[in-house]
Amino acid sequence: MERRGFGPTGREVAVIGQGTWYIEHAKRDRAIAALRRGLDLGMTHIDTAELYGSGAAEGVVAEAIAGRRDEVFLVSKVLPQNASREGTLAACERSLARLQTDRLDCYLLHWRGKYPLEDTFAAFEQLQREGKILSWGVSNFDVSDLEEARKIVGEGRIACNQVLYHVQERAIEHAVIPWCEKHGVAVVAYSPFGHGSFPGPRTAGGRVLQEIAEAHRASPRQVALRFLVRRRSVFAIPKASTPEHAAENAGAGDIRLSEAEVARIDAAFPLGPRSRTLPIL
Ligand SMILES: NC(=O)c1ccc[n+]([C@@H]2O[C@H](COP(=O)([O-])OP(=O)(O)OC[C@H]3O[C@@H](n4cnc5c(N)ncnc54)[C@H](OP(=O)(O)O)[C@@H]3O)[C@@H](O)[C@H]2O)c1
Repeated sequence: MERRGFGPTGREVAVIGQGTWYIEHAKRDRAIAALRRGLDLGMTHIDTAELYGSGAAEGVVAEAIAGRRDEVFLVSKVLPQNASREGTLAACERSLARLQTDRLDCYLLHWRGKYPLEDTFAAFEQLQREGKILSWGVSNFDVSDLEEARKIVGEGRIACNQVLYHVQERAIEHAVIPWCEKHGVAVVAYSPFGHGSFPGPRTAGGRVLQEIAEAHRASPRQVALRFLVRRRSVFAIPKASTPEHAAENAGAGDIRLSEAEVARIDAAFPLGPRSRTLPIL
């Protein structure tokens, strides 16, 4: 599995990681086996949130990483309605307890809400000083939000911006990715398979992915993931609730697409208009 520097953290993180939204809906032993198989294959970036299953997903992750904490780049998120200064500190404690760990590798504001960013970021900085989080970042931030955040904390503090990105939704390529690259912020692609709307083999785009996959003895999903992480700033976190799906996704970590293949995918899934990235819950 290829690993790259993650924003300003100085940490090397797997380019393909593992999401956990709705993982608590799967059979628990299969979900845990999926996450562990993913870890075995190098997908050590695990993304969760207090939102997911109202904490149940964090419970699944705790079981999956038991005895393997040091292998994992563990990320969780605070809900905007909890993101006051005191609320963020308390939410982090609850996540640490559910995850049965003493630290998060990165803690994110899930999306912007009513509390001033100054308050949330002050809590993040305090948690980092206390060693409860090793870095922090944001999610669903557009360029204007990122600019505001940078004005508050300066350069080199925001580890990542986790945003919607898949072959059929490439809006972040217009301005969000360039901004993050300019300011050394990692981009984490969520819903990299479109949250269940991956292009089928009968569609024109699906056929392009299939043809490129065949040339690499790979699968269309592996090719799509590799396309998303073609820029060094970008990481992806597909969610899988079976070991078979996890293994397939991990295989994307080793594929290398040629420039011509990237150009074909680019043409098959046109960039589309610039629009504000909005959270999907
Ligand atoms: N920050 C945010 O606001 C935000 C928003 C959305 C998501 N996220 C994060 O990003 C993660 C990924 O996004 P997502 O869960 O929305 O969707 P996704 O990863 O785009 O797609 C997940 C779907 O793809 C299926 N799948 C995965 N691997 C597969 C494979 N190899 N073959 C066939 N099907 C496969 C899964 O099925 P199975 O479950 O059956 O394996 C599931 O139905 C989330 O889990 C979450 O951690 C963050």
